[in-house]
Amino acid sequence: MPTKNHVKISKEITGATNVYGIIGNPVKFSLSPLIQNTVSRYMGLDNVYVSFPVEDGQLEQAIKGAHSLGVRGLNITKPYKQDVMPLLTYIDPLALKIGAVNTLKYEQDGYVGYNTDADGLYTSLLQNNIDLTNQDIIVLGAGGAARAVCMMAANYQAKSIYIINRTLENAQLLANEVKKHYDIDVYILPTGRCEEVPDKAICFQTTSVGMGTSSDTTPIGDCEFFAKLSVAVDLIYNPFETLFLKKAKQSGAYTINGFGMLIYQAIKAYEIWNEIELSDKDLKVLITEIEAEYIRMNV
Ligand code: ATR
Repeated sequence: MPTKNHVKISKEITGATNVYGIIGNPVKFSLSPLIQNTVSRYMGLDNVYVSFPVEDGQLEQAIKGAHSLGVRGLNITKPYKQDVMPLLTYIDPLALKIGAVNTLKYEQDGYVGYNTDADGLYTSLLQNNIDLTNQDIIVLGAGGAARAVCMMAANYQAKSIYIINRTLENAQLLANEVKKHYDIDVYILPTGRCEEVPDKAICFQTTSVGMGTSSDTTPIGDCEFFAKLSVAVDLIYNPFETLFLKKAKQSGAYTINGFGMLIYQAIKAYEIWNEIELSDKDLKVLITEIEAEYIRMNV
Protein backbone atom coordinates (compact mmCIF):
# COMPACT_ATOMS: atom_id res chain seq x y z
CA MET A 1 0.00 0.00 0.00
CA PRO A 2 1.63 3.34 -1.01
CA THR A 3 2.09 5.79 1.85
CA LYS A 4 0.97 9.43 1.52
CA ASN A 5 4.45 10.62 0.55
CA HIS A 6 4.76 7.95 -2.14
CA VAL A 7 3.21 9.33 -5.31
CA LYS A 8 2.44 7.05 -8.26
CA ILE A 9 2.19 9.10 -11.44
CA SER A 10 -0.90 8.17 -13.47
CA LYS A 11 -0.22 8.26 -17.21
CA GLU A 12 -3.00 6.02 -18.50
CA ILE A 13 -5.52 8.81 -19.01
CA THR A 14 -4.24 11.98 -20.66
CA GLY A 15 -5.68 15.07 -22.31
CA ALA A 16 -5.87 13.11 -25.56
CA THR A 17 -7.83 10.14 -24.19
CA ASN A 18 -11.19 9.55 -25.91
CA VAL A 19 -14.16 9.08 -23.60
CA TYR A 20 -16.85 6.42 -24.09
CA GLY A 21 -19.57 5.22 -21.76
CA ILE A 22 -22.80 3.43 -21.02
CA ILE A 23 -26.09 5.14 -20.20
CA GLY A 24 -28.81 3.27 -18.32
CA ASN A 25 -30.49 2.91 -14.96
CA PRO A 26 -29.06 1.08 -13.12
CA VAL A 27 -25.58 0.72 -14.66
CA LYS A 28 -23.56 0.05 -11.51
CA PHE A 29 -23.34 -3.68 -12.19
CA SER A 30 -22.74 -3.45 -15.94
CA LEU A 31 -19.88 -5.55 -17.30
CA SER A 32 -19.43 -3.15 -20.24
CA PRO A 33 -16.68 -1.01 -18.58
CA LEU A 34 -14.64 -4.15 -17.88
CA ILE A 35 -15.15 -5.44 -21.42
CA GLN A 36 -14.57 -2.14 -23.25
CA ASN A 37 -11.51 -1.07 -21.24
CA THR A 38 -9.99 -4.55 -21.65
CA VAL A 39 -10.50 -4.38 -25.43
CA SER A 40 -8.92 -0.90 -25.56
CA ARG A 41 -5.86 -2.02 -23.56
CA TYR A 42 -5.54 -5.09 -25.78
CA MET A 43 -5.87 -3.08 -29.01
CA GLY A 44 -3.59 -0.32 -27.66
CA LEU A 45 -6.08 2.51 -28.24
CA ASP A 46 -6.18 5.59 -26.03
CA ASN A 47 -9.81 5.19 -24.90
CA VAL A 48 -11.54 5.12 -21.55
CA TYR A 49 -15.05 3.80 -20.90
CA VAL A 50 -17.17 4.69 -17.87
CA SER A 51 -20.74 4.23 -16.70
CA PHE A 52 -23.27 7.09 -16.63
CA PRO A 53 -26.37 6.41 -14.52
CA VAL A 54 -29.17 8.58 -15.92
CA GLU A 55 -32.31 9.22 -13.91
CA ASP A 56 -35.81 8.98 -15.32
CA GLY A 57 -36.63 12.13 -17.35
CA GLN A 58 -32.97 13.12 -17.84
CA LEU A 59 -32.17 11.17 -21.02
CA GLU A 60 -32.45 14.01 -23.52
CA GLN A 61 -30.24 16.30 -21.44
CA ALA A 62 -27.75 13.48 -20.92
CA ILE A 63 -27.44 12.78 -24.67
CA LYS A 64 -27.12 16.48 -25.54
CA GLY A 65 -24.59 16.99 -22.75
CA ALA A 66 -22.53 13.96 -23.76
CA HIS A 67 -22.41 15.26 -27.33
CA SER A 68 -21.35 18.73 -26.21
CA LEU A 69 -18.61 17.14 -24.13
CA GLY A 70 -17.41 15.16 -27.14
CA VAL A 71 -18.13 11.70 -25.71
CA ARG A 72 -17.11 9.63 -28.76
CA GLY A 73 -19.50 6.75 -28.26
CA LEU A 74 -22.17 5.47 -25.93
CA ASN A 75 -23.88 2.21 -25.18
CA ILE A 76 -27.51 2.47 -24.20
CA THR A 77 -29.06 -0.10 -21.90
CA LYS A 78 -32.33 -0.61 -20.01
CA PRO A 79 -34.62 1.28 -19.80
CA TYR A 80 -33.58 3.66 -22.62
CA LYS A 81 -33.03 1.51 -25.73
CA GLN A 82 -36.26 2.80 -27.34
CA ASP A 83 -36.47 6.23 -25.71
CA VAL A 84 -33.13 7.25 -27.18
CA MET A 85 -34.27 6.75 -30.78
CA PRO A 86 -35.94 10.18 -31.35
CA LEU A 87 -32.80 11.88 -30.04
CA LEU A 88 -30.54 10.65 -32.86
CA THR A 89 -29.62 12.18 -36.20
CA TYR A 90 -29.69 8.84 -38.05
CA ILE A 91 -30.58 5.23 -37.19
CA ASP A 92 -29.09 2.22 -38.92
CA PRO A 93 -31.75 0.13 -40.81
CA LEU A 94 -31.13 -3.02 -38.72
CA ALA A 95 -31.67 -1.04 -35.49
CA LEU A 96 -34.93 0.31 -36.96
CA LYS A 97 -36.12 -3.24 -37.67
CA ILE A 98 -35.17 -4.35 -34.16
CA GLY A 99 -36.89 -1.25 -32.80
CA ALA A 100 -34.12 -0.50 -30.32
CA VAL A 101 -30.70 1.15 -30.25
CA ASN A 102 -27.82 0.05 -28.00
CA THR A 103 -24.88 1.92 -29.57
CA LEU A 104 -24.35 5.61 -30.41
CA LYS A 105 -21.48 6.92 -32.51
CA TYR A 106 -20.45 10.56 -32.31
CA GLU A 107 -20.80 12.59 -35.49
CA GLN A 108 -20.42 16.38 -35.80
CA ASP A 109 -24.17 17.09 -35.84
CA GLY A 110 -25.32 14.47 -33.32
CA TYR A 111 -25.23 10.74 -32.54
CA VAL A 112 -25.91 7.95 -35.04
CA GLY A 113 -27.70 4.89 -33.60
CA TYR A 114 -26.97 1.17 -34.13
CA ASN A 115 -28.08 -2.08 -32.59
CA THR A 116 -25.25 -4.59 -32.15
CA ASP A 117 -27.24 -7.26 -30.27
CA ALA A 118 -28.24 -9.23 -33.37
CA ASP A 119 -24.75 -9.12 -34.89
CA GLY A 120 -23.21 -9.98 -31.51
CA LEU A 121 -25.44 -13.03 -31.22
CA TYR A 122 -24.70 -13.99 -34.82
CA THR A 123 -20.94 -13.84 -34.18
CA SER A 124 -21.43 -16.01 -31.09
CA LEU A 125 -23.22 -18.58 -33.30
CA LEU A 126 -20.47 -18.43 -35.95
CA GLN A 127 -17.81 -18.99 -33.28
CA ASN A 128 -19.74 -22.17 -32.38
CA ASN A 129 -20.02 -23.20 -36.06
CA ILE A 130 -23.81 -22.77 -36.09
CA ASP A 131 -25.30 -21.81 -39.45
CA LEU A 132 -28.88 -20.45 -39.56
CA THR A 133 -29.35 -20.83 -43.31
CA ASN A 134 -32.47 -22.85 -44.09
CA GLN A 135 -32.92 -23.86 -40.43
CA ASP A 136 -36.11 -23.90 -38.37
CA ILE A 137 -35.82 -21.40 -35.53
CA ILE A 138 -37.74 -21.36 -32.27
CA VAL A 139 -37.87 -18.19 -30.20
CA LEU A 140 -39.08 -18.40 -26.59
CA GLY A 141 -40.45 -15.00 -25.57
CA ALA A 142 -41.72 -12.05 -27.58
CA GLY A 143 -40.09 -8.98 -26.02
CA GLY A 144 -37.23 -6.76 -27.17
CA ALA A 145 -34.59 -9.49 -27.10
CA ALA A 146 -36.86 -11.86 -29.03
CA ARG A 147 -37.32 -9.19 -31.69
CA ALA A 148 -33.55 -8.90 -32.18
CA VAL A 149 -33.29 -12.70 -32.49
CA CYS A 150 -36.14 -12.88 -35.03
CA MET A 151 -34.65 -10.12 -37.21
CA MET A 152 -31.25 -11.82 -37.08
CA ALA A 153 -32.73 -15.20 -38.03
CA ALA A 154 -34.73 -13.71 -40.92
CA ASN A 155 -31.76 -11.63 -42.06
CA TYR A 156 -29.50 -14.70 -42.19
CA GLN A 157 -31.95 -16.77 -44.27
CA ALA A 158 -33.50 -19.07 -41.71
CA LYS A 159 -36.30 -21.26 -43.13
CA SER A 160 -39.01 -20.52 -40.54
CA ILE A 161 -39.54 -18.96 -37.13
CA TYR A 162 -41.77 -20.37 -34.36
CA ILE A 163 -42.47 -17.79 -31.65
CA ILE A 164 -43.61 -19.41 -28.40
CA ASN A 165 -44.83 -17.01 -25.75
CA ARG A 166 -46.90 -16.92 -22.56
CA THR A 167 -49.06 -14.11 -24.03
CA LEU A 168 -50.06 -15.09 -27.56
CA GLU A 169 -51.02 -11.50 -28.53
CA ASN A 170 -47.43 -10.41 -27.98
CA ALA A 171 -46.20 -13.28 -30.13
CA GLN A 172 -48.61 -12.14 -32.86
CA LEU A 173 -47.37 -8.54 -32.67
CA LEU A 174 -43.78 -9.74 -33.03
CA ALA A 175 -44.70 -12.04 -35.93
CA ASN A 176 -46.33 -9.05 -37.68
CA GLU A 177 -43.15 -6.98 -37.22
CA VAL A 178 -40.98 -9.71 -38.73
CA LYS A 179 -43.34 -10.20 -41.69
CA LYS A 180 -43.28 -6.44 -42.32
CA HIS A 181 -39.58 -6.67 -43.17
CA TYR A 182 -38.92 -10.24 -44.33
CA ASP A 183 -40.58 -12.84 -46.51
CA ILE A 184 -40.26 -15.75 -44.08
CA ASP A 185 -42.75 -18.21 -42.55
CA VAL A 186 -43.52 -17.14 -38.99
CA TYR A 187 -45.74 -19.25 -36.69
CA ILE A 188 -46.96 -18.44 -33.19
CA LEU A 189 -47.68 -20.95 -30.44
CA PRO A 190 -48.80 -20.71 -26.82
CA THR A 191 -46.42 -22.42 -24.36
CA GLY A 192 -48.96 -25.24 -23.91
CA ARG A 193 -48.53 -26.33 -27.55
CA CYS A 194 -44.74 -26.10 -27.64
CA GLU A 195 -44.29 -29.66 -28.91
CA GLU A 196 -45.76 -28.59 -32.29
CA VAL A 197 -42.36 -27.48 -33.53
CA PRO A 198 -40.25 -29.18 -36.20
CA ASP A 199 -37.45 -31.64 -35.38
CA LYS A 200 -33.84 -30.46 -35.20
CA ALA A 201 -34.76 -26.84 -34.59
CA ILE A 202 -32.44 -24.16 -33.23
CA CYS A 203 -34.05 -22.62 -30.15
CA PHE A 204 -33.33 -19.21 -28.58
CA GLN A 205 -34.47 -18.61 -24.99
CA THR A 206 -35.00 -14.83 -24.67
CA THR A 207 -37.08 -14.45 -21.48
CA SER A 208 -35.65 -13.66 -18.05
CA VAL A 209 -36.89 -16.99 -16.71
CA GLY A 210 -33.90 -18.89 -15.29
CA MET A 211 -32.16 -15.84 -13.81
CA GLY A 212 -31.86 -14.91 -10.13
CA THR A 213 -34.69 -16.22 -8.01
CA SER A 214 -36.15 -18.15 -10.97
CA SER A 215 -32.95 -20.17 -11.52
CA ASP A 216 -34.79 -23.45 -10.84
CA THR A 217 -37.38 -22.82 -13.59
CA THR A 218 -37.64 -22.82 -17.38
CA PRO A 219 -40.27 -21.11 -19.56
CA ILE A 220 -41.01 -24.61 -20.94
CA GLY A 221 -40.75 -27.84 -18.94
CA ASP A 222 -41.84 -30.34 -21.57
CA CYS A 223 -39.32 -33.18 -22.30
CA GLU A 224 -40.84 -33.79 -25.75
CA PHE A 225 -39.98 -30.19 -26.62
CA PHE A 226 -36.33 -30.49 -25.62
CA ALA A 227 -35.97 -33.69 -27.66
CA LYS A 228 -36.74 -31.64 -30.80
CA LEU A 229 -33.80 -29.26 -30.40
CA SER A 230 -30.49 -29.63 -32.21
CA VAL A 231 -29.13 -26.39 -30.71
CA ALA A 232 -30.31 -24.46 -27.64
CA VAL A 233 -29.17 -20.89 -27.05
CA ASP A 234 -30.02 -19.06 -23.82
CA LEU A 235 -29.45 -15.29 -23.90
CA ILE A 236 -28.91 -15.42 -20.12
CA TYR A 237 -25.27 -15.61 -18.93
CA ASN A 238 -25.88 -15.50 -15.18
CA PRO A 239 -26.09 -18.35 -14.30
CA PHE A 240 -23.71 -19.63 -16.97
CA GLU A 241 -25.83 -22.73 -17.44
CA THR A 242 -29.56 -22.16 -16.91
CA LEU A 243 -31.94 -25.01 -16.19
CA PHE A 244 -33.16 -24.55 -19.77
CA LEU A 245 -29.65 -25.27 -21.09
CA LYS A 246 -29.19 -28.20 -18.68
CA LYS A 247 -32.42 -29.81 -19.88
CA ALA A 248 -31.56 -29.20 -23.53
CA LYS A 249 -28.09 -30.71 -23.04
CA GLN A 250 -29.58 -33.77 -21.32
CA SER A 251 -31.81 -34.24 -24.37
CA GLY A 252 -28.80 -34.17 -26.68
CA ALA A 253 -28.80 -30.56 -27.92
CA TYR A 254 -25.66 -28.48 -28.41
CA THR A 255 -25.88 -25.58 -25.95
CA ILE A 256 -24.66 -21.97 -25.96
CA ASN A 257 -25.13 -19.41 -23.18
CA GLY A 258 -25.46 -15.62 -23.50
CA PHE A 259 -21.89 -14.74 -22.57
CA GLY A 260 -20.62 -14.80 -26.16
CA MET A 261 -23.44 -12.48 -27.24
CA LEU A 262 -22.60 -10.09 -24.39
CA ILE A 263 -18.94 -9.90 -25.42
CA TYR A 264 -19.51 -9.75 -29.17
CA GLN A 265 -22.22 -7.07 -29.03
CA ALA A 266 -19.71 -4.99 -27.05
CA ILE A 267 -16.95 -5.68 -29.58
CA LYS A 268 -19.26 -4.77 -32.47
CA ALA A 269 -19.86 -1.40 -30.78
CA TYR A 270 -16.10 -1.03 -30.34
CA GLU A 271 -15.59 -1.74 -34.04
CA ILE A 272 -18.20 0.86 -35.03
CA TRP A 273 -16.68 3.54 -32.79
CA ASN A 274 -13.09 2.95 -33.81
CA GLU A 275 -13.79 2.04 -37.46
CA ILE A 276 -11.75 -1.15 -37.22
CA GLU A 277 -12.45 -4.87 -37.50
CA LEU A 278 -11.00 -7.27 -34.96
CA SER A 279 -9.52 -10.50 -36.31
CA ASP A 280 -10.90 -13.92 -35.46
CA LYS A 281 -7.81 -14.55 -33.37
CA ASP A 282 -8.36 -11.32 -31.40
CA LEU A 283 -12.00 -12.26 -30.76
CA LYS A 284 -11.01 -15.68 -29.44
CA VAL A 285 -8.27 -14.30 -27.18
CA LEU A 286 -10.55 -11.61 -25.78
CA ILE A 287 -13.52 -13.88 -25.06
CA THR A 288 -11.29 -16.50 -23.41
CA GLU A 289 -9.62 -13.95 -21.13
CA ILE A 290 -12.78 -12.00 -20.27
CA GLU A 291 -14.76 -15.18 -19.63
CA ALA A 292 -12.01 -16.48 -17.31
CA GLU A 293 -12.06 -13.19 -15.38
CA TYR A 294 -15.85 -13.25 -15.15
CA ILE A 295 -15.75 -16.78 -13.73
CA ARG A 296 -13.07 -15.69 -11.18
CA MET A 297 -15.27 -12.73 -10.16
CA ASN A 298 -18.26 -14.99 -9.60
CA VAL A 299 -16.70 -17.80 -7.54
P1 ATR B 1 -36.60 -7.97 -23.09
O1 ATR B 1 -36.58 -6.59 -23.67
O2 ATR B 1 -35.43 -8.29 -22.21
O3 ATR B 1 -36.84 -9.03 -24.10
P2 ATR B 1 -39.36 -7.77 -22.32
O4 ATR B 1 -39.56 -6.90 -23.51
O5 ATR B 1 -39.94 -7.37 -21.01
O6 ATR B 1 -37.81 -7.98 -22.04
O7 ATR B 1 -39.87 -9.24 -22.71
C1 ATR B 1 -39.89 -10.27 -21.82
C2 ATR B 1 -40.45 -11.56 -22.49
O8 ATR B 1 -40.28 -12.61 -21.55
C3 ATR B 1 -41.91 -11.49 -22.83
O9 ATR B 1 -42.15 -12.28 -23.98
C4 ATR B 1 -42.56 -12.14 -21.62
O10 ATR B 1 -43.79 -12.79 -21.89
P3 ATR B 1 -45.19 -12.00 -22.01
O11 ATR B 1 -45.24 -11.44 -23.41
O12 ATR B 1 -46.21 -13.03 -21.75
O13 ATR B 1 -45.15 -10.92 -20.95
C5 ATR B 1 -41.56 -13.19 -21.26
N1 ATR B 1 -41.63 -13.55 -19.85
C6 ATR B 1 -41.25 -12.76 -18.82
N2 ATR B 1 -41.46 -13.40 -17.66
C7 ATR B 1 -41.98 -14.62 -17.96
C8 ATR B 1 -42.41 -15.77 -17.20
N3 ATR B 1 -42.33 -15.78 -15.87
N4 ATR B 1 -42.88 -16.84 -17.87
C9 ATR B 1 -42.97 -16.83 -19.22
N5 ATR B 1 -42.59 -15.79 -19.99
C10 ATR B 1 -42.09 -14.70 -19.38
